[in-house]
Amino acid sequence: MQSLKRTKIVDLIHCTEFGSTVNVKGWVRTRRGSKNVNFIALNDGSTIKNVQIVADVEQFDAEMLKQITTGACLSVVGTLVESQGAGQASEIQATAIEVLGTCDADFPMQKKGQTFEYMRTHAHMRLRTNTFGAVFRIRHNMAMAIHRYFHEHGFFYFHTPIITASDAEGAGQMFQVTTQDLNNLPKTEEGQVDYANDFFGKQASLTVSGQLEGELGATALGAIYTFGPTFRAENSNTPRHLAEFWMIEPEVAFNDITDNMDLAEDFIKYCIRWALENCKDDLEFLNNMVDKTLLERLHFVVNNNFLRLTYTEGIEVLQKAIAEGRKFEFPVTWGTDLSSEHERFLVEEHFKCPIILTDYPKEIKAFYMKQNEDGKTVRAMDVLFPQIGEIIGGSEREESYDKLVARIEELHIPMKDMWWYLDTRKFGTCPHSGFGLGFERLILFVTGMQNIRDVIPFPRTPRSAEF
Ligand code: 4AD
Ligand code: MG
Repeated sequence: MQSLKRTKIVDLIHCTEFGSTVNVKGWVRTRRGSKNVNFIALNDGSTIKNVQIVADVEQFDAEMLKQITTGACLSVVGTLVESQGAGQASEIQATAIEVLGTCDADFPMQKKGQTFEYMRTHAHMRLRTNTFGAVFRIRHNMAMAIHRYFHEHGFFYFHTPIITASDAEGAGQMFQVTTQDLNNLPKTEEGQVDYANDFFGKQASLTVSGQLEGELGATALGAIYTFGPTFRAENSNTPRHLAEFWMIEPEVAFNDITDNMDLAEDFIKYCIRWALENCKDDLEFLNNMVDKTLLERLHFVVNNNFLRLTYTEGIEVLQKAIAEGRKFEFPVTWGTDLSSEHERFLVEEHFKCPIILTDYPKEIKAFYMKQNEDGKTVRAMDVLFPQIGEIIGGSEREESYDKLVARIEELHIPMKDMWWYLDTRKFGTCPHSGFGLGFERLILFVTGMQNIRDVIPFPRTPRSAEF
């Protein structure tokens, strides 16, 4: 039994070498059967599909068979045969079964139809379910698609720090990193926490974005992208926010806002096309079990242009809708940020396609965005998606040293922390643009899942850091 090489189920289901002896290993999904024969559905995570094991009861030890319960781990040797039953082309007629791991009766993923909320409380075991298997295989495939897209398009994967002393978004939502004794913090003469003897000799935090360092990369290597974890201590308990999420941030020298929009659209369509071509079984499963309009929506996005309009035009559409009787929870006024209900109205009800909103009021966007002539707006772009709302945020960057410094001063951002960033504008500054794609928001869209906590293996949200 030991000498036979294990076959993954993903390879086995396409195998037609009937009569050959195979070994599969995996976890029992179900066992059913009669007095004479047992049918065991085994899954090894390599595919959504199970392989059916047929075991003649009289050939096996009754005590061993009793251990084959949902969740138990088995190694099975048997003959690959053409299946008589519906639903699968082949099955394994077992000749030897070894129970590698029995499964206690309180296995939390035993029952069918448990809610995602319940499964979140058992996130360590939900990975063993069909839905989460599908989601995380797709998540892997999306990561591969992203690296392939950028590699094929001449971008360099650029690693930016996770621990940083600068607040890239200037939004003050950072988690601090310290080795100081929190019960006995040293204080300065002014009564402030003294970081002089802290590990980094100054206040440090987890990054909210790799963009600022990404700009250093782009203005040297031409085109880079980051793909790493980012952290936000925003107290947003919504189905779209995580405290720890992964972000992809391309940054390109000499790209203007239009190039940036073209890149965002081409890139995201490539990723979705990749999923349609490489994750067929998992997408079909999710389309059947989670969201019946998933495949339709994915095809729609790859086959249609994203509509491009300004923030101001978007506000006009919303105000017109309100005048015609549409009700929103939050008011719509020029100068305030759109809430998720507004974004989704524009995308899902009004335009009925993905849109890219540009030229937002400077007050609601980050300091680094290129200022427009009107003195009021900046060359920002948000890509808004059905079901999701904002999936991408980006901009053309302010390349003028003087304008950037003026904005930093206006916003009282500590200049001394920014000296290295400002150097890009002093030493051969250039027009450049970039954006950030929230990886989990992309996975939400591609899987049809409703809650961002269900597309990352171990979600971190306010008051929750289990597993
Ligand atoms: O719009 P954001 O804050 O933009 C930036 O961080 C820029 N530095 C990006 C850039 O221009 N290089 O975040 C970018 C994207 C959002 O559009 C959203 O998809 C995602 O990151 N995102 C979150 N995803 C999950 N949980 C959160 N708390 C998120 N905050 C932002
Ligand atoms: Mg944003």
